[in-house]
Amino acid sequence: MIEANHLSRTYQRGDGTPVTALRDVTFTIAAGEFVVIRGASGSGKSSLLNILGCLDTPSSGRYRLAGEDVSVLPDDERSHVRSRRIGFVFQSFNLLPRATAVENVELPALYTGAAPDRARARKLLERVGLAERAEHFATELSGGEQQRVAIARALMNDPPVLLADEPTGNLDSAAGESVMQLFTSLHEGGRTIVLVTHDEQVASFADREILIRDGVVASDTVRRERSPA
Ligand SMILES: Nc1ncnc2c1ncn2[C@@H]1O[C@H](COP(=O)(O)OP(=O)(O)O)[C@@H](O)[C@H]1O
Ligand SMILES: [Mg+2]
Repeated sequence: MIEANHLSRTYQRGDGTPVTALRDVTFTIAAGEFVVIRGASGSGKSSLLNILGCLDTPSSGRYRLAGEDVSVLPDDERSHVRSRRIGFVFQSFNLLPRATAVENVELPALYTGAAPDRARARKLLERVGLAERAEHFATELSGGEQQRVAIARALMNDPPVLLADEPTGNLDSAAGESVMQLFTSLHEGGRTIVLVTHDEQVASFADREILIRDGVVASDTVRRERSPA
Protein backbone atom coordinates (compact mmCIF):
# COMPACT_ATOMS: atom_id res chain seq x y z
CA MET A 1 0.00 0.00 0.00
CA ILE A 2 2.86 2.34 0.97
CA GLU A 3 6.27 2.14 -0.72
CA ALA A 4 8.96 4.57 0.43
CA ASN A 5 12.03 4.27 -1.77
CA HIS A 6 15.23 6.06 -0.77
CA LEU A 7 13.33 9.11 0.43
CA SER A 8 15.21 12.14 1.57
CA ARG A 9 13.98 15.58 2.54
CA THR A 10 16.13 18.67 2.90
CA TYR A 11 14.72 22.01 4.07
CA GLN A 12 16.24 25.47 3.61
CA ARG A 13 16.69 27.36 6.87
CA GLY A 14 15.84 31.08 6.92
CA ASP A 15 19.52 31.93 6.44
CA GLY A 16 19.73 29.59 3.44
CA THR A 17 21.61 26.75 5.11
CA PRO A 18 20.17 23.31 4.37
CA VAL A 19 18.75 20.95 7.05
CA THR A 20 18.45 17.32 6.08
CA ALA A 21 15.48 15.88 8.00
CA LEU A 22 15.35 12.49 6.22
CA ARG A 23 17.95 10.48 4.36
CA ASP A 24 17.59 7.34 2.31
CA VAL A 25 14.41 6.10 4.00
CA THR A 26 13.16 2.86 2.46
CA PHE A 27 10.33 0.58 3.63
CA THR A 28 7.04 -0.85 2.47
CA ILE A 29 3.82 -1.13 4.41
CA ALA A 30 1.21 -3.64 3.26
CA ALA A 31 -2.53 -3.03 3.26
CA GLY A 32 -4.00 -3.71 6.70
CA GLU A 33 -0.81 -3.20 8.72
CA PHE A 34 -0.70 -1.19 11.94
CA VAL A 35 2.73 0.44 12.04
CA VAL A 36 4.22 2.93 14.43
CA ILE A 37 7.05 5.24 13.45
CA ARG A 38 8.88 6.03 16.68
CA GLY A 39 11.71 8.45 17.32
CA ALA A 40 12.88 11.32 19.49
CA SER A 41 11.76 14.88 18.88
CA GLY A 42 13.48 16.26 15.77
CA SER A 43 14.28 12.81 14.34
CA GLY A 44 12.20 13.44 11.19
CA LYS A 45 8.91 11.70 12.02
CA SER A 46 6.61 14.51 10.92
CA SER A 47 8.69 15.15 7.80
CA LEU A 48 8.20 11.50 6.85
CA LEU A 49 4.49 11.35 7.68
CA ASN A 50 3.84 14.54 5.68
CA ILE A 51 5.34 12.84 2.62
CA LEU A 52 3.34 9.65 3.23
CA GLY A 53 0.22 11.80 3.62
CA CYS A 54 0.82 13.69 0.34
CA LEU A 55 1.19 16.98 2.22
CA ASP A 56 4.81 17.27 1.11
CA THR A 57 7.11 15.76 -1.52
CA PRO A 58 10.56 14.23 -1.04
CA SER A 59 13.70 16.09 -2.15
CA SER A 60 14.80 12.82 -3.70
CA GLY A 61 13.54 9.27 -3.81
CA ARG A 62 10.18 7.86 -4.77
CA TYR A 63 6.92 7.46 -2.89
CA ARG A 64 4.25 5.13 -4.20
CA LEU A 65 0.80 4.97 -2.66
CA ALA A 66 -1.48 2.13 -3.75
CA GLY A 67 0.82 1.52 -6.71
CA GLU A 68 0.81 5.13 -7.89
CA ASP A 69 4.00 7.23 -7.85
CA VAL A 70 2.68 10.31 -6.09
CA SER A 71 6.10 11.94 -5.71
CA VAL A 72 5.95 13.04 -9.37
CA LEU A 73 2.35 14.32 -9.38
CA PRO A 74 1.55 18.04 -9.55
CA ASP A 75 0.04 19.56 -6.38
CA ASP A 76 -3.60 19.41 -7.44
CA GLU A 77 -3.42 15.75 -8.47
CA ARG A 78 -1.56 14.90 -5.29
CA SER A 79 -4.26 16.52 -3.13
CA HIS A 80 -6.87 14.61 -5.09
CA VAL A 81 -5.07 11.34 -4.30
CA ARG A 82 -4.78 12.47 -0.70
CA SER A 83 -8.50 13.17 -0.28
CA ARG A 84 -9.43 9.74 -1.62
CA ARG A 85 -6.80 7.57 -0.01
CA ILE A 86 -5.61 9.25 3.19
CA GLY A 87 -7.21 10.23 6.48
CA PHE A 88 -4.86 12.42 8.53
CA VAL A 89 -5.04 12.94 12.31
CA PHE A 90 -2.98 15.69 13.96
CA GLN A 91 -1.64 16.13 17.48
CA SER A 92 -3.66 19.32 17.97
CA PHE A 93 -6.93 17.93 16.50
CA ASN A 94 -7.31 20.91 14.08
CA LEU A 95 -11.10 21.08 14.38
CA LEU A 96 -13.00 24.20 13.33
CA PRO A 97 -13.90 25.72 16.72
CA ARG A 98 -17.09 27.46 15.51
CA ALA A 99 -18.47 24.31 13.92
CA THR A 100 -20.27 21.46 15.66
CA ALA A 101 -18.82 17.96 15.91
CA VAL A 102 -20.99 16.66 13.07
CA GLU A 103 -20.15 19.66 10.85
CA ASN A 104 -16.44 19.03 11.43
CA VAL A 105 -16.82 15.37 10.47
CA GLU A 106 -18.68 16.28 7.27
CA LEU A 107 -16.01 18.64 5.98
CA PRO A 108 -13.71 16.28 4.02
CA ALA A 109 -16.63 15.16 1.84
CA LEU A 110 -17.35 18.80 0.97
CA TYR A 111 -13.73 19.28 -0.14
CA THR A 112 -14.11 16.53 -2.72
CA GLY A 113 -17.22 18.22 -4.08
CA ALA A 114 -19.50 15.46 -2.82
CA ALA A 115 -23.00 16.23 -1.56
CA PRO A 116 -23.17 16.81 2.21
CA ASP A 117 -23.80 13.50 3.95
CA ARG A 118 -24.90 14.27 7.48
CA ALA A 119 -26.18 10.73 8.03
CA ARG A 120 -22.72 9.31 7.34
CA ALA A 121 -21.10 11.93 9.58
CA ARG A 122 -23.46 10.96 12.42
CA LYS A 123 -22.74 7.29 11.89
CA LEU A 124 -19.01 7.96 12.15
CA LEU A 125 -19.52 9.90 15.37
CA GLU A 126 -21.40 6.90 16.68
CA ARG A 127 -18.48 4.70 15.57
CA VAL A 128 -16.08 6.74 17.73
CA GLY A 129 -18.49 6.73 20.70
CA LEU A 130 -19.69 10.34 20.40
CA ALA A 131 -23.24 10.07 19.00
CA GLU A 132 -24.59 12.21 21.83
CA ARG A 133 -22.04 14.96 21.23
CA ALA A 134 -22.91 15.54 17.55
CA GLU A 135 -24.38 19.02 18.06
CA HIS A 136 -21.74 20.25 20.49
CA PHE A 137 -19.26 22.83 19.32
CA ALA A 138 -15.68 21.62 19.13
CA THR A 139 -14.74 24.02 21.95
CA GLU A 140 -17.27 22.31 24.26
CA LEU A 141 -15.54 18.95 23.99
CA SER A 142 -12.67 17.52 26.03
CA GLY A 143 -9.34 16.89 24.32
CA GLY A 144 -10.02 13.16 24.04
CA GLU A 145 -13.44 13.83 22.54
CA GLN A 146 -12.00 16.35 20.07
CA GLN A 147 -9.45 13.80 18.92
CA ARG A 148 -12.17 11.19 18.42
CA VAL A 149 -14.12 13.73 16.33
CA ALA A 150 -10.93 14.30 14.32
CA ILE A 151 -10.65 10.53 13.75
CA ALA A 152 -14.28 10.40 12.59
CA ARG A 153 -13.49 13.29 10.23
CA ALA A 154 -10.46 11.40 8.90
CA LEU A 155 -12.80 8.48 8.07
CA MET A 156 -15.39 10.59 6.24
CA ASN A 157 -14.12 9.82 2.73
CA ASP A 158 -13.56 6.16 3.69
CA PRO A 159 -9.79 6.20 3.02
CA PRO A 160 -7.91 2.89 3.15
CA VAL A 161 -5.03 4.56 5.01
CA LEU A 162 -5.11 6.48 8.30
CA LEU A 163 -2.05 8.51 9.27
CA ALA A 164 -1.67 10.06 12.71
CA ASP A 165 1.05 12.41 13.93
CA GLU A 166 1.45 12.18 17.75
CA PRO A 167 -2.36 11.78 18.12
CA THR A 168 -2.12 11.33 21.89
CA GLY A 169 0.50 14.05 22.43
CA ASN A 170 -1.99 16.57 23.85
CA LEU A 171 -4.04 14.04 25.86
CA ASP A 172 -3.87 12.71 29.41
CA SER A 173 -3.09 9.02 29.69
CA ALA A 174 -6.72 7.83 30.03
CA ALA A 175 -7.86 9.79 26.95
CA GLY A 176 -4.72 8.67 25.10
CA GLU A 177 -5.46 5.05 25.91
CA SER A 178 -9.01 5.33 24.58
CA VAL A 179 -7.78 6.95 21.36
CA MET A 180 -5.24 4.13 20.91
CA GLN A 181 -7.98 1.54 21.48
CA LEU A 182 -9.98 3.26 18.77
CA PHE A 183 -7.03 3.02 16.33
CA THR A 184 -6.64 -0.65 17.27
CA SER A 185 -10.27 -1.36 16.50
CA LEU A 186 -10.08 0.53 13.18
CA HIS A 187 -7.05 -1.60 12.32
CA GLU A 188 -9.03 -4.73 13.16
CA GLY A 189 -11.70 -3.42 10.79
CA GLY A 190 -9.14 -3.50 7.96
CA ARG A 191 -7.66 0.01 7.82
CA THR A 192 -3.96 0.51 7.23
CA ILE A 193 -2.67 2.64 10.11
CA VAL A 194 0.62 4.49 10.35
CA LEU A 195 1.07 6.38 13.59
CA VAL A 196 3.95 8.58 14.67
CA THR A 197 4.96 8.83 18.32
CA HIS A 198 7.96 9.38 20.59
CA ASP A 199 6.19 7.36 23.30
CA GLU A 200 7.07 3.71 23.93
CA GLN A 201 3.72 3.03 25.62
CA VAL A 202 1.79 4.34 22.63
CA ALA A 203 4.06 2.38 20.27
CA SER A 204 3.17 -0.86 22.04
CA PHE A 205 -0.30 -0.83 20.44
CA ALA A 206 1.13 -1.35 16.95
CA ASP A 207 2.17 -4.61 15.27
CA ARG A 208 5.36 -3.20 13.81
CA GLU A 209 7.73 -0.43 14.79
CA ILE A 210 9.97 1.57 12.49
CA LEU A 211 12.51 3.37 14.65
CA ILE A 212 13.86 6.57 13.17
CA ARG A 213 16.98 8.33 14.41
CA ASP A 214 18.44 11.52 12.92
CA GLY A 215 16.39 11.05 9.76
CA VAL A 216 17.51 7.46 9.18
CA VAL A 217 15.63 4.18 9.74
CA ALA A 218 17.52 2.68 12.69
CA SER A 219 15.42 -0.50 12.96
CA ASP A 220 12.22 -2.04 11.64
CA THR A 221 10.75 -4.67 13.97
CA VAL A 222 7.65 -6.80 14.24
CA ARG A 223 6.22 -6.26 17.71
CA ARG A 224 3.32 -8.64 17.32
CA GLU A 225 2.37 -11.17 14.68
CA ARG A 226 -0.82 -10.33 12.89
CA SER A 227 -3.68 -12.50 14.05
CA PRO A 228 -5.21 -14.56 11.23
CA ALA A 229 -8.20 -12.83 9.64
N1 LIG B 1 9.82 23.51 7.48
C1 LIG B 1 11.04 23.27 8.00
N2 LIG B 1 12.08 24.10 7.74
C2 LIG B 1 13.31 23.86 8.24
N3 LIG B 1 13.60 22.81 9.03
C3 LIG B 1 12.62 21.96 9.34
C4 LIG B 1 11.28 22.14 8.85
N4 LIG B 1 10.51 21.13 9.31
C5 LIG B 1 11.32 20.35 10.06
N5 LIG B 1 12.58 20.85 10.08
C6 LIG B 1 13.75 20.24 10.75
O1 LIG B 1 13.85 18.89 10.33
C7 LIG B 1 14.18 18.04 11.42
C8 LIG B 1 13.10 17.00 11.62
O2 LIG B 1 11.90 17.64 12.01
P1 LIG B 1 10.52 16.85 12.19
O3 LIG B 1 10.27 16.04 10.98
O4 LIG B 1 9.49 17.85 12.58
O5 LIG B 1 10.86 15.87 13.42
P2 LIG B 1 9.90 15.18 14.51
O6 LIG B 1 8.53 15.18 13.97
O7 LIG B 1 10.49 13.81 14.69
O8 LIG B 1 10.03 15.99 15.76
C9 LIG B 1 14.38 18.95 12.63
O9 LIG B 1 15.75 19.26 12.71
C10 LIG B 1 13.57 20.17 12.26
O10 LIG B 1 14.08 21.32 12.89
MG1 LIG C 1 6.77 15.91 14.77
